[in-house]
Amino acid sequence: MSEAQLLDTQRAFDSVAPDYDGPRGNNELIQRMRLTLWSSVRDEIPAGSRLLDLGCGTGIDAVQFASHGYQVVAGDWSPRMVERTHARAAAAGVEAQVAAVHVGVHQLDRLEGGFDGIYSNFGPLNCAPDLGDVATQCARLLRPGGKLVFSVIGRICPWEVGYYLFKGRIKRAGIRATRGVTAVGMNHHTIWTQYYLPREFYRAFVRHFTLNGYRALSLFMPPPYLVEFYRRHQRACERLGRLDDRFGALPWLRDMGDHFLIVMQRR
Ligand SMILES: C[S@@+](CC[C@H](N)C(=O)[O-])C[C@H]1O[C@@H](n2cnc3c(N)ncnc32)[C@H](O)[C@@H]1O
Repeated sequence: MSEAQLLDTQRAFDSVAPDYDGPRGNNELIQRMRLTLWSSVRDEIPAGSRLLDLGCGTGIDAVQFASHGYQVVAGDWSPRMVERTHARAAAAGVEAQVAAVHVGVHQLDRLEGGFDGIYSNFGPLNCAPDLGDVATQCARLLRPGGKLVFSVIGRICPWEVGYYLFKGRIKRAGIRATRGVTAVGMNHHTIWTQYYLPREFYRAFVRHFTLNGYRALSLFMPPPYLVEFYRRHQRACERLGRLDDRFGALPWLRDMGDHFLIVMQRR
């Protein structure tokens, strides 16, 4: 991924930062997946620990964890997102617990270590130019035994394939099958994205981390951009959500979904 592509992605997220707490960045379907990451982080890493948030966006997760007794360094490549995190922490009265920093996942060498856990929610790591370097830096930044909890955009999303085929947008239906980095449009900008199967993703981390587990997020439930469909068929979709909760960690199924949630531990 080139410097120009990184800047495209930065501009794309800067452009949506003002309203990213709205339907685009935090609708009901996103919130549902968010709860899974929150409970996973709390299960894996005790309150009072030091956390690093990679790609914090507007700081919803960072402020949530700070309110529950964690110390959080929250980094993002978009300066406008970092400002939003800073403002959110101040408004919630947790600015002493949240340090919002303008640091991309490709700049982790700028941070001091000593973290107990590192999390990343909703795909910032899909924008990382070198996932192997992120893994090496995470290993440096974490204490031995420290945990990684990441939600990552997956390769196999049956809802997406079905939806775009139905719309006749055949190329868009297959976008997640692309090898390497691909352009995804948002708000008339481009996000340069790489999709992963969980095992492809873990391969970059295997040297420093053991795999504790992974599960599908929104496999049966529609992906967040189909929130209008969800609102029209809420009861049926809630049933699908319960299928995600019940079966999302099963072999085969866990390899699919809009995102996957993966937990690893520093060797
Ligand atoms: C889909 S948003 C998710 C934001 C937040 N984690 C959340 O849960 O709402 C992706 C975030 O990743 C950030 N991002 C994109 N490329 C990045 C990079 N190279 N380094 C760090 N953050 C990046 C974007 O600025 C954006 O805030």
